[in-house]
Amino acid sequence: MPVTTQQLIRFKQQERPIVALTAWDYLLAQALDQAGIDVILVGDSLAMVALGYDTTIPLTLDETLHHAKAVRRGVKEAMMVVDLPFLSYQESPEQALRSAGRAFKEAGAQAVKLEGGYPAIANTVSKLVQIGIPVMGHVGLTPQSVHQFGGFRQQGKSPEAGDRILEEAIALEQAGCFAIVLEHIPDDLALRITQKLRIPTIGIGAGAHCDGQVLVTADLLGLSTWHPPFAKSYVNLRESITQAVKTFCTEVREHQFPS
Ligand code: KIV
Repeated sequence: MPVTTQQLIRFKQQERPIVALTAWDYLLAQALDQAGIDVILVGDSLAMVALGYDTTIPLTLDETLHHAKAVRRGVKEAMMVVDLPFLSYQESPEQALRSAGRAFKEAGAQAVKLEGGYPAIANTVSKLVQIGIPVMGHVGLTPQSVHQFGGFRQQGKSPEAGDRILEEAIALEQAGCFAIVLEHIPDDLALRITQKLRIPTIGIGAGAHCDGQVLVTADLLGLSTWHPPFAKSYVNLRESITQAVKTFCTEVREHQFPS
């Protein structure tokens, strides 16, 4: 049975940390799933790590679904969450419903993730949840607003900004979100939010006090040319790939392969 929203809430109650990673294709998703990840997010960061865009903003819903369908074929046990891309849900709850509906019907999503916690988004979340679509929230550094923030900067540093993010998280919980991503905010703010909410918080650059952690898998694998300061690479795959390809070039050019 795939991981469920209820299970994630139980993990918080049991203080069992939730592990989440992003995926953008079949083989990667299969490897993550077989390694025992709880949540696989088809994050809109795929715009940057799989498609080479500078930000997540140009990504379309069709591009997202193309990748989500491939991920779906690789995932058996984890919960698959699909990020709705920029301007595929902000216009109205009806637009969000159409986009989330496509993620469910065409790509087999079990939940969608929306960025932001301002009143219109909380209202949209509540409409989706009433219809039976589980929603993961996302507050703090919401990359679809990168131009408003003036870069991928830490959010919630002043007491007022921190209080605003806390209020957004509470509004999203009240609207029916089953979990919330906290991105690039101070550790003590993430702790306050985590203590306040009944639903789990999943942090990225938000310290050790969240109920779970998520990373962009390209950063974890050392594939990215740049990664944020809070990310950790557990292996340098970029270097391994370059070395393997150089060896292949040499062996072919020197008639050593095929032997
Ligand atoms: O798109 C993404 O990869 C994300 C994670 C950073 C949570 O939203």
